[in-house]
Amino acid sequence: MASLRLLCEDITMTAKRILLGISGGIAAYKSAELTRQLIKAGHQVEVVMTESATRFVTPATFQALSGNTVYTDLWDPRPSNAMAHIELSRRADAFLIAPATANLLFKLAHGACDDLISTLAAARTCPLIVAPAMNLQMWQNPPNQRNLAQLRADGVTVFGPGNGSQACGETGDGRMLEPHEIVELLNGFFADKLLAGKKVLLTAGPTYEAIDAVRGITNISSGKMGYALARACRDAGAEVTLVSGPTGMPAPQDIRRVDVASAADMQQAVLTEVGSTNVFISVAAVADYKVKNRSEHKIKKGAVVPTIELEENPDILATVAGLPAAPFCVGFAAESQNLLEFAEAKRRRKKLPLLVANLAQQAMGADDNQVVLLDNAGQHPLPQMPKDEVARAIVRHLARLLPSR
Ligand code: C5P
Repeated sequence: MASLRLLCEDITMTAKRILLGISGGIAAYKSAELTRQLIKAGHQVEVVMTESATRFVTPATFQALSGNTVYTDLWDPRPSNAMAHIELSRRADAFLIAPATANLLFKLAHGACDDLISTLAAARTCPLIVAPAMNLQMWQNPPNQRNLAQLRADGVTVFGPGNGSQACGETGDGRMLEPHEIVELLNGFFADKLLAGKKVLLTAGPTYEAIDAVRGITNISSGKMGYALARACRDAGAEVTLVSGPTGMPAPQDIRRVDVASAADMQQAVLTEVGSTNVFISVAAVADYKVKNRSEHKIKKGAVVPTIELEENPDILATVAGLPAAPFCVGFAAESQNLLEFAEAKRRRKKLPLLVANLAQQAMGADDNQVVLLDNAGQHPLPQMPKDEVARAIVRHLARLLPSR
């Protein structure tokens, strides 16, 4: 019963009506893919464009992708009351402008109403989100930064920009975020802020225990579950720090990531960060043992087969849970047999208010996961779902437990 309720809450969270504004930067070509991905995520999309945006990509492209009429002109007679600037934004849950050029940011910051997009922004009742896209120097230009600060102060949400190579050949800040990053942040924007004001520290991924300069012991943890939880906590309004073992995962937006390799490095990073943390979620598959006789140089092949001696690693989670002012600690248990029995024993041994149990062979590396939440009230099984949905369900459960502490 409890698990069904968690699932239903997730489904109702997603579908929104998005008014997508496109201004005239080269990143407008990415907005075609953004439209497609917004629709794939279940949203309805209506597109409005500035005149210069239509020089980069035609309205017909967006009309075909969104399945809706594209508006570019304040004087368009097609809306029923001929007031596109009012009608279009009134039926939207959010007005997302991507790309937002420096010129458009200037106009928005100063309340200009000289075209359809700026007038829609002024007349809207829904939240406004901008995804800036411009050349590095334009981004850093002090007037542009002042406009950004003004927009933030006015309650406008800013997605990005990203950092990397730009169409002009330069490298730096100012790239529009990739469509999948914008969709991810937008879904997070609508999430309930269940962890607002909380600081969350997580570990994720495997650890790497060196044998010599080029070899080591690691495990098949992908980091997908830990990163999904980090994003879910961020979307729930928490300030998130992610201590990550070596994974191929991209650093999530608006999350501070500390990269580590060994369990000892991970322990040190966690103890450095844990100070004012409210919640510690230990998702990492931490190696239980490290190599005692590791070699600084590459071990040469020789007549004698080398012997690797192991010694125990610190238990990071148990250490944090045992601190005098311990945060609310959440553990994971990946077992290959006797899942619930072993997991509950682990929860009690490590003195955890919440533990997430999953089958190692089913969970590690996979995109989906099926977990059971164990707390002082008992067992709460969840259905098999994508790890992002599992993460959101864990956050909702965690948020319910938090105030009682
Ligand atoms: O005892 P076991 O390794 O199965 O416990 C799993 C939980 O403990 C996970 O939450 C994992 O991140 C954490 N752990 C840890 N340090 C270790 C071993 C496990 O923090 N050395």
